[in-house]
Amino acid sequence: MKAPRTICVVGIQWGDEGKGKIVDLLAKKSEVVVRYQGGANAGHTVVVGGEKFVLHLVPSGILHRRTCVIANGVVVDLAQLIREVDELRSRGVRIEGNLHLSDRSHVVMPYHKALDAAYEGGGLRIGTTQRGIGPCYADKASRKGIRVSSLFSPAAFREMLRAHVEEKNRVLAALCGAKPMDPDVIAEEYLGYAERIKEWVADTVELVNRAVDAGKRVLFEAAQGTLLDIDFGTYPYVTSSNSDACGISAGTGVPPGKIRSILGVAKAYCTRVGEGPFPTELAGPAADRIRRTGGEYGATTGRPRRCGWFDGVASRYAVRVNGIRELAVTKLDVLSDIDEVRFATSYRLDGKKTESMPPDAEALARCEPVYETFRGWKGDLSRIRSFDDLPREAKIYLKFVERYLNVRISMVSVGRDREKTIVRG
Ligand code: IMP
Repeated sequence: MKAPRTICVVGIQWGDEGKGKIVDLLAKKSEVVVRYQGGANAGHTVVVGGEKFVLHLVPSGILHRRTCVIANGVVVDLAQLIREVDELRSRGVRIEGNLHLSDRSHVVMPYHKALDAAYEGGGLRIGTTQRGIGPCYADKASRKGIRVSSLFSPAAFREMLRAHVEEKNRVLAALCGAKPMDPDVIAEEYLGYAERIKEWVADTVELVNRAVDAGKRVLFEAAQGTLLDIDFGTYPYVTSSNSDACGISAGTGVPPGKIRSILGVAKAYCTRVGEGPFPTELAGPAADRIRRTGGEYGATTGRPRRCGWFDGVASRYAVRVNGIRELAVTKLDVLSDIDEVRFATSYRLDGKKTESMPPDAEALARCEPVYETFRGWKGDLSRIRSFDDLPREAKIYLKFVERYLNVRISMVSVGRDREKTIVRG
C-alpha cells in the first residue's frame, strides 16, 4: 500500500465559497474526484474557456476526464443526474468509464421534495433549496430510504415503495392536503431511471479505497460549507449532512487515517442563502454592492445571497473542526475599491466579549460582531498572478486572516476564470 495522496476541499463558511473553481484547478492534478455528501442542493459553477458549466451532482472533475465518483453519502436526484449527464454529453464531455455512482447512495424520491416544500410552508422555515435533501436524509436515518441498489430488485423495490408512499401520502395529506401519490407510477418512473444509470453504478467503497491504496491522487469535494453542517453548523439552519471533512469517511467508506490534507476555502467576505443567523451581515447599499460585484445569486435557486464581512469567529471554529492548515481565499477582487474592509475578531454576547461559536442559532443571532477595520485597496486585481504583486492593503488584510485563523493562504482567487488565480509556492 502506497502513502495516501488524498486531499479534501471544504468550505469554511455557509457554502458558496467558490469551491467549484478550486476543485476544478485541483482536479487537473488528481486522478479520482469524489463527492461524498449533499445532493442537488449544491451548485458548482465552473468556467472553462469562457464556457460556463453549472454542476449539481456530477463532480466537476468530469470536465478533465477524471474518474468521478458520487459516493454513498450523497443523496441522488436521478432525474437531475440524468439531465446533467445528457447536457454534459451534448457539450462533448466524455462520461463513459469516468462516472461512478455508489450502489449505496440514497435516492431522492418525489415525496421527499413534496415534504421539503410542505415543511417549509409551515412552522420553522429553514429556507431550504427544496430539493428534498432533508426528508431524504431523514428517511435514511429512519431506515425508510431507498438506495440505488434497491432499484435493481424490481419486485422488492415495488413492495417497499408501496409501503413508503402510503405512509408519506398520509403525512402529506395532513400537512398540506396534498393529493395522494401513486406508488405504481413512481415505481415505473424510477425503474426507467435504473435502466439509464445502471452503467454508472459501482461498489465505490472498493473503487475509492483501491485508488487511495494504490497511491493515486484522490480529491474529495465537499458541498455546502462547515457552518451548514448538521452537527457543527448553525443548527437548525443547516443542511442535513456533514458538509465538512467530518463527513468524508461516513460518506465514502475511506477511513479517516487515509485522508492526508484538508484545504479550506473561504471568500474574502461572507455570504449566506436561506434563513439563519449571520452576525456580520450587511444591509442596504453596502450589501448590494458586494452582491452586484460578486454576482451573489444562488447557482441552484437563483436566490440573492445575503452578504457581509468575513466572520473570523465562525471561520476559526470551522478551521478547528476540519483541521485546516491551508486556505484558499476566493473573490478578493470583489472587495476592490471599497474604502474600508472589516473582519470580525470576536462577538459581543449579552454584554460579554467572546471568541467562541455559540451552539444555539438563537444565541448566535444575538451576537454583535467586534470588527478589525482595514484600509481598502483599489484597482483591478484580475491580472495579478503573484501574492507579492497584490496591493499593499490587500496583503495586509490577507496576512491578518492568516494570523487570525492560524493557516497559510496558499491560493487567492482574483476572478472567475481558472487562470485568474494566485498560487503561492
Ligand atoms: P437544504 O440543503 O436544501 O435542505 O437547505 C438547508 C440550508 O442549506 C438552506 O439555508 C440552504 O440555502 C442551504 N444550502 C443548501 N445547499 C447549499 C449550497 O450549495 N450553497 C449554499 N447554501 C446551501
